[in-house]
Amino acid sequence: MNANFSTTQSGAPVIDDGHSSVMGRDGAIPLTDHYLIEKLAQFNRERVPERVVHAKGGGAFGVFETTEDVSMFTKAALFQQGATTETLLRFSSVAGEQGSPDTWRDPRGFALKFYTPEGNYDLVGNNTPVFFIRDGIKFPDFIHSQKRLPGTNLRDADMQWDFWTLSPESAHQVTWLMGDRGLPNSWRTMNGYGSHTYMWINEAGEKFWVKYHFKSNQGHEVLSVDEAEALAGSDADHHLRDLSENIAKGNHPSWDLKVQIMPYHDAKDYRFNPFDLTKVWPQADYPLIPVGKLTLNRNPENYFSQIETAIQRTTSRRSSRRRSRRRTLFPASRRAPTACCRPGSSPTPTRTATGWEPTMRSSR
Ligand code: HEM
Repeated sequence: MNANFSTTQSGAPVIDDGHSSVMGRDGAIPLTDHYLIEKLAQFNRERVPERVVHAKGGGAFGVFETTEDVSMFTKAALFQQGATTETLLRFSSVAGEQGSPDTWRDPRGFALKFYTPEGNYDLVGNNTPVFFIRDGIKFPDFIHSQKRLPGTNLRDADMQWDFWTLSPESAHQVTWLMGDRGLPNSWRTMNGYGSHTYMWINEAGEKFWVKYHFKSNQGHEVLSVDEAEALAGSDADHHLRDLSENIAKGNHPSWDLKVQIMPYHDAKDYRFNPFDLTKVWPQADYPLIPVGKLTLNRNPENYFSQIETAIQRTTSRRSSRRRSRRRTLFPASRRAPTACCRPGSSPTPTRTATGWEPTMRSSR
């Protein structure tokens, strides 16, 4: 038997994976050919329902190195100076189905998984620091407006603009989307943002609100509308190919992580709700603080098992990092019930009526 042979699911070598056993020359194929049954059954299941959003994506492995001392803000092992942490980064577009072109105008997902000694830390972000909605209840309606009209099964600009014009809070993100950054030339030449407001806790137990910024070291390259449309026809996997080929030839893309830090109590009286995902924090108030560098240096060997089944658990929290309780955005995994959105899963109580009440005041 040559070195390269197929096995059954239990690992037993298969004598011949190209011919079914038959009863006599040109005879019937008996159902006793369990390998045949197994092979066909396995094939039928080589599909998982695509993500309801961010279905089309690609990713790679890498390493995050903390180069600066930010221990005054966090005791997390991965953010201690000199720490290096294995990572997985899955990029994606939002509205398109699994086979859709990479160059359609859309925000891009930037879903980062840190394999830390304190457990996985999943930071699910986008290439925009803001989002379309403030209230998660609108998410299904928003996504429906970006997908296909039930009657025609066609995507529809009127439907999209109906949602955006009737949801004025989406204006900031729509400005990002309809600007140059809505058509990145590659996943390497765009920034990533945690978008949400997170919490860091230091050794002394002091809490800080934090916003993550991953600044591309490849600069920003964008496509013109004509280029994007042409590529949508000629190379639907333009971003996927660009990432895989650059990493394969040793051109490892990297991003500098910088954070904005807001002391815990600042949030109570800040001039706008700092948990409002449709707003950015002015850098004049909260300047960017360097933390470290993320470098992607390894392509996956098997996309399905290493990238497409890598789920992001936004509830994966380590003791030194938490998420604030805010109008929420929490993905639900299709593969296993995630613990997200469980009431009370957030560490910090909702603010009192005297301070910022994320639910009531800001959104209505
Ligand atoms: C209420 C608001 C939101 C809801 C209900 C929601 C829901 C979801 C769902 C259901 C998925 C698919 C998960 C899976 O099948 O594995 C997903 C994926 C994703 N979401 Fe959201 N989302 C929301 C807001 C956001 C925001 C604000 C961001 C970015 C800041 C974001 C970034 C992502 C990314 C990057 C993925 C793809 C993750 C991957 O590559 O596996 N989402 N979301």
